[in-house]
Amino acid sequence: MSFTEELEKRKTFGIVSHPDAGKTTLTEKLLLFGGAIQVAGAVKSNKIKKHATSDFMEIERQRGISVATSVMAFKYRDRKINILDTPGHKDFAEDTFRTLTAVDSAIVVVDVAKGVETQTEALVEVCKMRKTPMIVFVNKLDREGKDGFDLLDEIETKLGLKAVPLSWPIGMGQRFQGVYNLYKKQLVLFRPHSKQDNKEEVVVFDDLASAELETIIGEAAAEELREEVNMIEEVYPDLDINEYLKGEQHPVFFGSAINNFGVKEMLDCFVEIAPSPLPRETEERIVEPDEDKFSGFIFKIHANMDPKHRDRIAFLRICSGKFQRNTNYLHVRQEKKMKFSNPTAFMASKKSVVDEAYPGDIVGLYDSGNFKIGDSITEGEKLNFKGIPSFSPEQFRYVDNADPLKSKQLAKGLNQLMEEGVAQMFVKEVNGRRVIGTVGALQFEVIQYRLKNEYGASCSYEPVNLHKACWVSCDDIDALKEFMSKRKRDLAKDIDGQLVFLAESAWTLKMAQENHPKVQFHFTSEF
Ligand code: G4P
Repeated sequence: MSFTEELEKRKTFGIVSHPDAGKTTLTEKLLLFGGAIQVAGAVKSNKIKKHATSDFMEIERQRGISVATSVMAFKYRDRKINILDTPGHKDFAEDTFRTLTAVDSAIVVVDVAKGVETQTEALVEVCKMRKTPMIVFVNKLDREGKDGFDLLDEIETKLGLKAVPLSWPIGMGQRFQGVYNLYKKQLVLFRPHSKQDNKEEVVVFDDLASAELETIIGEAAAEELREEVNMIEEVYPDLDINEYLKGEQHPVFFGSAINNFGVKEMLDCFVEIAPSPLPRETEERIVEPDEDKFSGFIFKIHANMDPKHRDRIAFLRICSGKFQRNTNYLHVRQEKKMKFSNPTAFMASKKSVVDEAYPGDIVGLYDSGNFKIGDSITEGEKLNFKGIPSFSPEQFRYVDNADPLKSKQLAKGLNQLMEEGVAQMFVKEVNGRRVIGTVGALQFEVIQYRLKNEYGASCSYEPVNLHKACWVSCDDIDALKEFMSKRKRDLAKDIDGQLVFLAESAWTLKMAQENHPKVQFHFTSEF
């Protein structure tokens, strides 16, 4: 198969949702369609268990498991589909944000009863920043939930997406009969008793006005469906694939993942319209996937669970060219040549050594501490991929050394954990004190535990009253100097040496913005 064919058949995406909306169930159904797993429950058993928020040992255990589900690849209708796992746990939010930098499109799962929830809003915001094409799947139609039009409204107002319904439910909960596929003009009937064989009954039906509809779904449902489909045709635009690809239209499907209903409609549409590997921006230039020379970036680092083996797995997203095993590549930040003898590919939950991989693929590289998130690997060109920012954390604490004899171990451990993206560290300009910022409170315990177990170092925390960390920039050197001298005690550097303003409250931030209008405050590290 030619390079171009390999490229075009790849679709790399992530599923985003609020925990419990049905991401794991949907992933599993997709893998079943692709024949990548044979039995239901194979992914489920790997799932990050609920109610584990207060138990960091449980998170440690899950961390081990989640290597296996980081990338799940399967083949469907001659395409190679890579699903990148976007952990839905609340304390994994930043990891999830970063994974989204490595996808070309996303599927957003919304629970029909709960509607659009907070985590979905945050994740969709990240996709929108990058204009990632998104398809929405409204799940759990076998249960009572919100009215379809109200949901479309929520999708538009809360998520800011331009909804284009491609399927429409016929009733819901007890009355749920199936969906009308607006894209293919087909009635797809839900027959719950047949869920074991995963079959849907598809009735090709392109004339909703036909009296036959009454005999199939009953009078009341037929009338309702006709009315609703009329309304959809009046209110919502037709799908324009280019608009979808530009991130400006968002197809919406309805179904029930657990019953495997409506999933195939969405998957069939997905393989038709979802983008193949897209060009990627670097600080230097745009990298096209079909370039001859290989390039890629690290978007996730996974530490080994075994403290005796400090090696980690760095996940590389291939952006251009063909990646080959045992070939000399350039680690751009470290300006050093490296080759990889055991690059790993993932196929559902199986791992295997690969000889070559193509744009859109994810390869796991064994790493003894060379990589940090955002690093580029190329055939020689100095490229730095953009779009892998850090986000302002929400919780902060001072971190201190609790064992004076182990300060080196502490420094090393903290550095490596930050490179892995467990949390962010800021060093205050005035006194050199280290502040750790995380998305969830649990991360502090995880850091303490891992420092002890993996690095033999002890740390203690002290509360610090902070609201946000903002990266600052300013074109006017004098204005910057003035800001730096006036706000000295609130300034810090991140691990890349970038200047960060640590705002104590929303008010301090507002005042700083007002008093220093020439200084820009950014909520992500990339601006
Ligand atoms: P998540 O990964 O987004 O957190 O969600 P997950 O797939 O685990 O689904 C959350 C719960 O919703 C699960 O139930 C799952 O069985 C259920 N679910 C998923 N899709 C559907 C659907 O189409 N209809 C209905 N009625 N339920 C659905 P659970 O009881 O929490 O877990 P389990 O005991 O079933 O494993």
